[in-house]
Amino acid sequence: MDGMGLRNVSSHCSISEMDDYDFSRLHDKPRLNIERQRSFDERSLSELSIGFARGGLDNFDITCSPGGRSGFDTPASSARNSFEPHPMVADAWEALRRSLVHFRGQPVGTIAAYDHASEEVLNYDQVFVRDFVPSALAFLMNGEPDIVKNFLLKTLHLQGWEKRIDRFKLGEGAMPASFKVLHDPTRKTDTLIADFGESAIGRVAPVDSGFWWIILLRAYTKSTGDLSLAETEDCQKGMRLILALCLSEGFDTFPTLLCADGCSMIDRRMGVYGYPIEIQALFFMALRCALAMLKPDTEGKEFIERIVKRLHAMSYHMRSYFWLDFQQLNDIYRYKTEEYSHTAVNKFNVIPDSIPEWVFDFMPTRGGYFIGNVSPARMDFRWFALGNCVAILSSLATPEQSMAIMDLIESRWEELVGEMPLKICYPAIESHEWRIVTGCDPKNTRWSYHNGGSWPVLLWLLTAACIKTGRPQIARRAIELAESRLLKDSWPEYYDGKLGRFIGKQARKYQTWSIAGYLVAKMMLEDPSHLGMISLEEDKQMKPVLKRCSSWTC
Ligand code: GLC
Repeated sequence: MDGMGLRNVSSHCSISEMDDYDFSRLHDKPRLNIERQRSFDERSLSELSIGFARGGLDNFDITCSPGGRSGFDTPASSARNSFEPHPMVADAWEALRRSLVHFRGQPVGTIAAYDHASEEVLNYDQVFVRDFVPSALAFLMNGEPDIVKNFLLKTLHLQGWEKRIDRFKLGEGAMPASFKVLHDPTRKTDTLIADFGESAIGRVAPVDSGFWWIILLRAYTKSTGDLSLAETEDCQKGMRLILALCLSEGFDTFPTLLCADGCSMIDRRMGVYGYPIEIQALFFMALRCALAMLKPDTEGKEFIERIVKRLHAMSYHMRSYFWLDFQQLNDIYRYKTEEYSHTAVNKFNVIPDSIPEWVFDFMPTRGGYFIGNVSPARMDFRWFALGNCVAILSSLATPEQSMAIMDLIESRWEELVGEMPLKICYPAIESHEWRIVTGCDPKNTRWSYHNGGSWPVLLWLLTAACIKTGRPQIARRAIELAESRLLKDSWPEYYDGKLGRFIGKQARKYQTWSIAGYLVAKMMLEDPSHLGMISLEEDKQMKPVLKRCSSWTC
């Protein structure tokens, strides 16, 4: 499985020998320079060379841009390229730096929101692991990796804590959802407190935190070329502990990861339990990143073998059963039910009457997506932004599927983007269904918050997916929309409404990941070589599934 990337990390070989894109050797090559005077479409055509059409990123001049880019008021990304910096960029950097959290004098993260106007702080004054990812990428892209290293080490330290909820001890490898630094000005001490779900609303466990941690460790390694952090015994052990939790054997009949409601970005009851796409895509990506960084020593070897097997089974399962396009929808619509044995076509016994009406209108003739969930007699047909973008970035989606996901976003622009990128999921659930599924959650009313709300943070994931598929013009359109509102509206957490026109009912202002997400989107578009730190090329050994086969064993 050589195509998997950085797996054989060891002190005797450099990152360029191990990885899918060779950054280090390309230092002296010319940067991609997009001429400003060319038209929109011509520009995107020239950038197509980084897309699948011409064989992926291999044909593209990629430069490594780590280091030497600090400086407080002059973010390198906007000062050193052929674009005029948008006036919002400077404001965004300032706001991002205001959100920095220090521990014993060192920056270790960014708080979720710096909203002084809000009466309720709740836990928005904490450093969330998932929220810090776009901040970390912004700092890495700007040549400031130290804060990312500090964050990775601090959270690794927290992972080692004994965690309890009431009298129940949590799994050893669990990473916190968030942490906070308590400053005692009289004693001049700093102490950390962390939340592993024991304080969170609803006591939800952050399954995504460990995956984001591994993904960020790879991004750090990739961007700095510094292998020494990932190679430390502490980081190797941290990865193994996370992996031990999610690779453990149980009663599962599927390679996907079973989890409870509220275990990721959507951290409230929203019918996102079972096998949600967001967790599956992050799980897949984290497995691939870990494979690239684990040392093949006695302990690592065993994990490497388990990961390889799991990735193989998972890509088959996801690409076959989670994938929905016009043809597939038509097949499900005509499914026979109550089939028994290995010859069953409708393996999960999905009853065609359970297909919601809206899907038939939503599904374009060209395009497709990974649906929200698949389990016995249950397909959640909702479209989720994060899962689909991460599926593209991790190459869980085949090149054809990635293209189809972008086709769908383009043809359902009004529904998925509207006036503010990007809907967290589509469509919203209403009335009786909302009562049953959310437990009457007043924060998750239709087209608000997690229930079809529009989240500016998702802009960076959309932009990364656009660049990877060679369709930067889509990202440009989305960024323009964000630029027309975000600063004026003081960087809200989310927007409400079918078109995302209204600032969210309970949205925080100066939400850090809205700010960082915008900066990351801008920097990636200006210098697409940044994509490498958050994207993995297709592994040629994981054959695309073109046709469904009728047996469990094929
Ligand atoms: C909300 C979001 C969650 C985020 C947190 C901090 O709880 O649902 O995804 O991590 O706020 O911003």
